[in-house]
Amino acid sequence: MNMAIEIVPCLLLLLVFAPWSIYSDERLLVGMTIVQNAAARGAVCLDGSLPAYHLHRGFGAGSNNWILQFEGGGWCNDVPSCLERAKSRRGSSRYMEKYKVFSGILSNNGSLNPDFYNWNRVKLRYCDGASFSGEGKFDNGASVLYFRGQKIWEAIIDDLLPKGLSSARNALLSGCSAGGLATFLHCDNLAKMLPSDATVKCLSDAGFFLDEQDISLNYTMRSFYNDLIALQGVERNLNPNCTKSIENPKLCFFPQYALNYITTPYFILNSAYDVYQFRHGLVPPSADLRGRWYRCKLNPAACNANQIDVLQGLRRDMLSALDSFHTNSGEGAMFINSCFAHCQSESQDTWFAVDSPRIHDKTIAEAVGDWYFGRKISKEIDCPYPCDKTCHNLISSPRPRGLLFGKNNTVIAIEMHLQVSLR
Ligand SMILES: *[C@@H]1O[C@H](CO)[C@@H](O)[C@H](O)[C@H]1NC(C)=O
Ligand SMILES: *[C@@H]1O[C@H](CO)[C@@H](O)[C@H](O)[C@H]1NC(C)=O
Ligand SMILES: *[C@@H]1O[C@H](CO)[C@@H](O)[C@H](O)[C@H]1NC(C)=O
Ligand SMILES: *[C@@H]1O[C@H](CO)[C@@H](O)[C@H](O)[C@H]1NC(C)=O
Repeated sequence: MNMAIEIVPCLLLLLVFAPWSIYSDERLLVGMTIVQNAAARGAVCLDGSLPAYHLHRGFGAGSNNWILQFEGGGWCNDVPSCLERAKSRRGSSRYMEKYKVFSGILSNNGSLNPDFYNWNRVKLRYCDGASFSGEGKFDNGASVLYFRGQKIWEAIIDDLLPKGLSSARNALLSGCSAGGLATFLHCDNLAKMLPSDATVKCLSDAGFFLDEQDISLNYTMRSFYNDLIALQGVERNLNPNCTKSIENPKLCFFPQYALNYITTPYFILNSAYDVYQFRHGLVPPSADLRGRWYRCKLNPAACNANQIDVLQGLRRDMLSALDSFHTNSGEGAMFINSCFAHCQSESQDTWFAVDSPRIHDKTIAEAVGDWYFGRKISKEIDCPYPCDKTCHNLISSPRPRGLLFGKNNTVIAIEMHLQVSLR
């Protein structure tokens, strides 16, 4: 449940005085802007509704700096799941909350977000189901679905350019989960649209989805993405330098293959035991029909020694997929911690707080700020689980935060960034 929705009605009166943002419990709620002229260029959500974003203006020394953050929220890779999504906030601006909480990297409070608080901060709403990269349409006479993620991205940028983005001095393209993946697909593209003397950098949070075999040795994520790419017409929008150098061009949807061809400086933030990848990529329900992983998926402390070994394999594979970036990227930074987490830049408690996760005593906010401003570029890799005592493990018993439970107490979805492929 999104608290922002509940708070809004009580505060409507305040809107008279501050139409685009309201404060409550130290939470900043920012109003939605609909991109009115987007339909003319075919930039629409799955159901044909107009795309949207939330903009909170920067001030002072940050007036000409911009953070653009892709909203996350899984993908839809077949017609039934996209039709379902088209009836939700993930596929239609008709169902979106009209206000979003800006916290963590989007906070406007200098003590909560020391380097970016006074920047222009934008959340790009996600309503295409393909990480802002599809280009096509489904129409069987009975139902219509618009796959227009690429156009939505372009329409939002074109709407923001005259609002000050065209004179940006500094820009950071970020996003988490499906939004983190979207940064890899659009990072270089943003750099081309901004002034040539602007500093443009990109941050992926929990977007480094691995091309990993699951525990039954199937490439579950690869097949999922293959279907997604085919359905939504994504292939033509993948990095051409990647697609022409690889036998299976669809693989360029995976950051590990595209990264070598991205020239804009990157910060890769990810947990080596990313909860989404653990649950959907490494141990998808199809590979654990007997539920042997059920308790371990909910709580790492309940995993047996073999399961921990398998999880250490996930970490090893992630580090090896990042090895070339680690060695060769001069301007790139990373923060690969060992927490059972998914998305750590958007909530205050993991971004920057007295007890937030750290590597070498540095918080994520400090590592990202030090990298962006060139104070210190570091590539941090945490020691393996369970050594890190600063984690806020998403998983804990009995009822982990961020999880949705079915009647029989099985996890049916993970809230916010994780809704996907629940068929
Ligand atoms: C900024 O955050 C600090 C720490 O939570 C809080 O004490 C302060 O009141 C906040 N400032 C504003 C302007 O909200
Ligand atoms: C592809 O690589 C060439 C040569 O390095 C470069 O000039 C070009 O900008 C790249 N294209 C893209 C879309 O990254
Ligand atoms: C593995 O993939 C094959 C081929 O797609 C499929 O037939 C099989 O059911 C899959 N096994 C599991 C456990 O998902
Ligand atoms: C639990 O409920 C979910 C849906 O709520 C269902 O998909 C699943 O099969 C159920 N599991 C068991 C063990 O009954």
